[in-house]
Amino acid sequence: MLAGVATHAGPFERTAALRQAASVAGELVAALAALAPAVAGEDIPAESTSQSYFRVREVELSDQQAALHGALVVQRGLEDLCDAPLAGADLALEVAAMRQSVLDLTGAAPGTEPGPMPEPAVPEPGARAPLESVWSARWLIGHQVHVLFNVCAAVAVADAARHLRDDDTDAALLRLAEATVYVRGFPAAMNHAGTIPADYYLAAIRRTMAPPSTDIPLSGRQHRGYKLFRAAMKDLLTVLPQSYEQLVARNPELAEARGALLEADIVDAERHVTLAYSMVHLRRSIAQRPEGPDNAVAELRLMRHRRAAQYAPLIRFGDHYIADAVAGLRHS
Ligand code: HEM
Repeated sequence: MLAGVATHAGPFERTAALRQAASVAGELVAALAALAPAVAGEDIPAESTSQSYFRVREVELSDQQAALHGALVVQRGLEDLCDAPLAGADLALEVAAMRQSVLDLTGAAPGTEPGPMPEPAVPEPGARAPLESVWSARWLIGHQVHVLFNVCAAVAVADAARHLRDDDTDAALLRLAEATVYVRGFPAAMNHAGTIPADYYLAAIRRTMAPPSTDIPLSGRQHRGYKLFRAAMKDLLTVLPQSYEQLVARNPELAEARGALLEADIVDAERHVTLAYSMVHLRRSIAQRPEGPDNAVAELRLMRHRRAAQYAPLIRFGDHYIADAVAGLRHS
């Protein structure tokens, strides 16, 4: 349904394709809302400052409501992507993960292409919001798409682990591949949120995430959906702890599927380093103590190194250099 965004197209075709995808998502929202209306998120108390800031809530939903709220996030994300200067490769990854989330949440079968679509309405010149409010909204929209991918990935990884425990390898392979689509979407959504001028982030957005605007400084570590994902990954590796070579000997397909997921997770950490560098350079993050040893980039790099060291024996092209260094540090 949302697969038709051609990334080789010129800027006009790209925007037209995104407008069309957004309007399809709007139709899906309308169809789902006709079954039962959306839950009013503002009426649900936030469980953390981070939830309140990013306008995210965690609550039990019916399948229909979960599909509706997922589709709303996708629709807003696609509308914003019409104007966001996201790199083509990231656009393809983000749209692929959006498509996967719609399939997962609606239970639809893949491969059903929509029929011919009417040309979407082109917004009237002058009807556009000021750029500053577009950028502020984008910061939240990109984060919400990221949360959607985190939660969908957590469910896919948890399903894969359960299938492996039940010895259903085919079902596990399918969910691992779907989880990989989401994890490849993480840095794409992160960069989508980051397609705002760094000057604007530093001058206007950054201070809204720290006291006195909020009671505590916000950090990505506080995202509950992401924590769910990390817990699911940890559990997966308790079911599948074998080295890459051992797993290849047992089931090469499973070794490759696990490898693809873990590589995507390492690359997500790598890209976080470069995104933070583009936005805050060598500053300490708002969530770090001013006297601490690290800045945001150094802390994110450490996260990358720990993850790469942990995964080195589990993937084909493991970073053994860093794994040895990390092991050496642990023994010193
Ligand atoms: C849309 C998603 C995300 C975006 C756009 C993003 C962007 C950023 C930016 C711009 C910084 C520098 C902060 C500053 O000082 O102004 C940063 C720091 C950081 N981010 Fe993220 N991030 C995202 C998600 C996450 C998630 C899910 C985690 C989970 C671990 C995370 C962990 C961190 C950490 C550890 C730092 C450095 C120290 C800190 O602020 O706690 N981020 N991120």
